[in-house]
Amino acid sequence: MKFYDREREVNFLKTYCQLEPNSILFVYGPKSSGKSTVMRRVIKDLENSDIVFFYYNLRKYATPTKDEFLSIFFEEGDKKYLPNKLEFNLGVCKFGIEKNQDFKKFSLNDVFAKINESINDVVEDGKKPVLIIDELQKLKNIYFNTENQRFSASPSLRFGDRNKSLLNELFNLFVSLTKMEHLCHVICITSDTLFIEEVYNNSTLKNTSKYYLIDWLNKTDIEKILREEGFTEGEVNYSINYLSLPYEIVDLIENKKLGLTVEETIKQWINIEKDKILYLIGTQKEFEMERLFKALELFKDNITIPIGDIIKNNLMDEIKFLINNEVLFYDVINGIIKPTSIIEWHAIKELINIYEKK
Ligand SMILES: Nc1ncnc2c1ncn2[C@@H]1O[C@H](COP(=O)(O)OP(=O)(O)OP(=O)(O)O)[C@@H](O)[C@H]1O
Ligand SMILES: [Mg+2]
Repeated sequence: MKFYDREREVNFLKTYCQLEPNSILFVYGPKSSGKSTVMRRVIKDLENSDIVFFYYNLRKYATPTKDEFLSIFFEEGDKKYLPNKLEFNLGVCKFGIEKNQDFKKFSLNDVFAKINESINDVVEDGKKPVLIIDELQKLKNIYFNTENQRFSASPSLRFGDRNKSLLNELFNLFVSLTKMEHLCHVICITSDTLFIEEVYNNSTLKNTSKYYLIDWLNKTDIEKILREEGFTEGEVNYSINYLSLPYEIVDLIENKKLGLTVEETIKQWINIEKDKILYLIGTQKEFEMERLFKALELFKDNITIPIGDIIKNNLMDEIKFLINNEVLFYDVINGIIKPTSIIEWHAIKELINIYEKK
């Protein structure tokens, strides 16, 4: 598979991994912008360095339960860190635990102790640990029952606190590993932008986190790739108004080989997205259709809208629905909303045109 230039992003992340750990890094960006691909490239490029990557890609799994989380994160063996067999080609590791562990008896404290042991072992071996979790938000609904544990004896413990959220507790561990002990980088990748908003407003993470956006490809890079791939000037000039995501370029090349013109492929994409949005709006029961169109109309003349405009128009709930359904992307750090791709923008504009003519 071809890898198109993401030099700036790859270099940023490679340098970041080699600096002293000092904060948690959240990598975010529009759906399919290439976040996971860039991260894998960084790992591959650094395979002969002194870095040991603990890499977990939760995309591969249905939303895990507590037991599944434990078996995904830990590998039984004699060492404190072991090859992650599911990611063999990447040469990454998993946290090691002794053989024949009863996961059922594992408490949150056990989990954290094991992670700490693994990371400390890497450091003792003179190497640098980096922990990467892709699609971290999938751990959101895992809770550990803390009854009968040391900290549940606290008199101040309220009833609701018996179940501790794994993710919230993990954030505390991550802050400790990075900001406090400077032991290990923690990089969290997510395609869920409303999750990034939650993270951004999480008090544990204030002043302890950094954010890195992997956005659409820029026009100059796209033009360069298309020329290198042998597209004519006419094709480049036409498609540059529509392309933003790496896989679109891959698809365009493939379709050209299959005999489809650039115009035909792009028209097909827009139609598919238009149908998806129409189906979404037509089958939901939460909002008045008119209000969803009103939210989309904000993008008629602008590809990005400041969040303030949405609040001013009282359309936040509708916009959040469209974000949740991957029609729009919310860049919470820069305070803007935009369609998930330029193709999506064209689909939105065509839909608005039809709607306004009615
Ligand atoms: N630089 C690149 N060169 C070529 N293909 C790429 C590149 N980046 C991404 N792709 C392709 O685009 C598709 C989406 O990439 P990827 O899964 O990395 O995106 P993502 O941002 O992680 O998506 P999601 O938001 O769904 O997690 C994949 O098919 C991948 O092979
Ligand atoms: Mg991904």
